[in-house]
Amino acid sequence: MSNASTFLAMKRRGAKIVVVTAYDAPTARIEVEAGVDIILVGDSVGVNILGYAHEREVTLADMAHHIAAVRRGAPEIYIIGDLPYATYDTPRQAIESSRVLGEAGADCVKFEGAQPELVRALATAGFDVCCHLGLESQHHEVKRRQGKTAEAAAKLFHDALALDAAGQNFLVLELVPQELAARITEAIGAPTIGIGAGAATDGQVLVVNDLAGITEREFKHNRRYGAVGAALGAAVAAYARDVRAGLFPAEAHAFHMGEEERAAFERAARADEA
Ligand code: KIV
Repeated sequence: MSNASTFLAMKRRGAKIVVVTAYDAPTARIEVEAGVDIILVGDSVGVNILGYAHEREVTLADMAHHIAAVRRGAPEIYIIGDLPYATYDTPRQAIESSRVLGEAGADCVKFEGAQPELVRALATAGFDVCCHLGLESQHHEVKRRQGKTAEAAAKLFHDALALDAAGQNFLVLELVPQELAARITEAIGAPTIGIGAGAATDGQVLVVNDLAGITEREFKHNRRYGAVGAALGAAVAAYARDVRAGLFPAEAHAFHMGEEERAAFERAARADEA
């Protein structure tokens, strides 16, 4: 089984780390069979699965529920679980929330923002910690690229160094310029995992609904590797057509009673009707 040192060693030898989100057991199983290194159970579960309008609506109970499902589908994979909005306002709250995610099956907890004191508290309490800088969906009102000016980039660079000094195990960089992601990746010890951060990070993460073609919206940072949404729609439409036309179920899908049982049942049914 992998642990944080597995991924540190990958960074050191220049092997790319493949991370993808999952929110349920069958998807997690498929992803493991496909060879991913890490599954992220992100708070993106809110908008991608639960029909919420915003990541902020995701609760700790939602996260625990989905992490547990992913763990059942992928007993061996390294799982990073998101601490949802307002569940890590103090080091003590962060530790209590992380315990819930750990009990559900997470190996590592992720939180958004430059809070080195939380990294120290969580690491001391025995948790692997993944930090997240750049676009912070829980905290930024508008989902737009970050770190575009020299000043904003310098601030993110400074924050990345501080989180690293505090002992982070991973750093997710979301929607930041490639030059900045490259500079951070070079400067810090922990592996960087990019999404919309260019090719220089130690690993990449995508939301499974986006890469599989379930999400309707197109994002500049994403590449669609499948058309799962369209395939699912076509399968359900074909099923509906067959049901309406009397073509499903066919004889092959039906079960029959033995002759004796059928006759006995018929007698019982008639008696009941009389
Ligand atoms: O919640 C999530 O899926 C994430 C990724 C976008 C990195 O945090």
